Amino acid sequence: MPRYALLILPSANRVYAGAAAGLAVAELAAFSDSVLRGALSAAEVTRRGGVPYVEFGAERLGPEDTSFLANMSSIYALFEVSGSLLKPMELNRLDRYDDDLITIQKYQGKTNEQFTKLLLNVTALASAFGAQMLSRQLAVLDPLCGRGTTLNQALTYGYDAAGIDIDQRDFEAYTTFIKTWLKRKRIKHKVTFDGPVRRDGKVAGRRLQASMAASKQDQKAGLTQKLDVVCADTTRATEFFRPATFDLVVTDAPYGVQHGSRSAASGLARRPAELLTAAVPVWASLLRPGGAVGIAWNTLAAPREEAAAILTAAGLEPVESGPYLQFRHRVDQAIVRDIVVARKPS
Ligand SMILES: C[S@@+](CC[C@H](N)C(=O)[O-])C[C@H]1O[C@@H](n2cnc3c(N)ncnc32)[C@H](O)[C@@H]1O
Repeated sequence: MPRYALLILPSANRVYAGAAAGLAVAELAAFSDSVLRGALSAAEVTRRGGVPYVEFGAERLGPEDTSFLANMSSIYALFEVSGSLLKPMELNRLDRYDDDLITIQKYQGKTNEQFTKLLLNVTALASAFGAQMLSRQLAVLDPLCGRGTTLNQALTYGYDAAGIDIDQRDFEAYTTFIKTWLKRKRIKHKVTFDGPVRRDGKVAGRRLQASMAASKQDQKAGLTQKLDVVCADTTRATEFFRPATFDLVVTDAPYGVQHGSRSAASGLARRPAELLTAAVPVWASLLRPGGAVGIAWNTLAAPREEAAAILTAAGLEPVESGPYLQFRHRVDQAIVRDIVVARKPS
């Protein structure tokens, strides 16, 4: 059986410290189970020339298989092992835009880009739409979107992206950034709405709606993507988005620790589990049957069982098996982060 060696992005070691290889093994298993017919044998960490690799066996990987693996959040390069030699394999990523869309913005409280991609990937892979990850324009909602790391990753994949966040400064920073970025990169786009949304004469929130195409050819072919960002409380999301319209809900919940004075200033010091209890049923109603929600949270603020119970109470089915139990990792003294993914029954 052919063997393959995966080189992990050097930055993963900085982001996850000692946990990078373990997370890569779990992500690989999520891809294998969902879209590679379970074809990959259990991966292991090896060393070649003093450098760590994640190695696995598989029946010969075809171009579609490597196209899936090319989008792993941790992949730097993939090789076919031939004795002591490594043969590089072509990795065609989904990426439609320059990666500065995701990396330019730097701010306290930003969810790490690589981790955001991991969260989006494993949520898509757990949904009924995993096999369509490369071919369909999925609709992704980040209902606690901050300054848009998930939205930018979704756009990079060619998906439609929607977000909601209560923090006005985050909303302003993100909408200013994205409008400037689209102009500066000369990306064909149209802002279709930008301003306050009124309900019964009162301002219910602010909103930016835009559409864009990665290239002239895409525009001609009607391959346009939608971006829709709202500044409002996430528990009011159904006032802005229609039920059962998102394939994936992907979010990094507040960590229950103060990031500077931001949380206190905007009244966000609510316990993360309380927020999830109020918000998850709303998010579940926005998901299509077969869709999935993926939440990252701080296990020091709420144990995994509590997060899973909140999802179950909202009629979702948490995936509590295999690689989906292997994403827990330490971020710092106050944060041990984990991912929980749940499906909406078809
Ligand atoms: C961990 S941060 C997400 C950061 C984001 N992924 C990014 O990279 O910018 C959690 C976000 O939840 C938002 N938030 C907290 N409570 C909220 C609520 N009730 N409604 C909407 N957003 C809320 C905060 O403003 C914060 O931006």
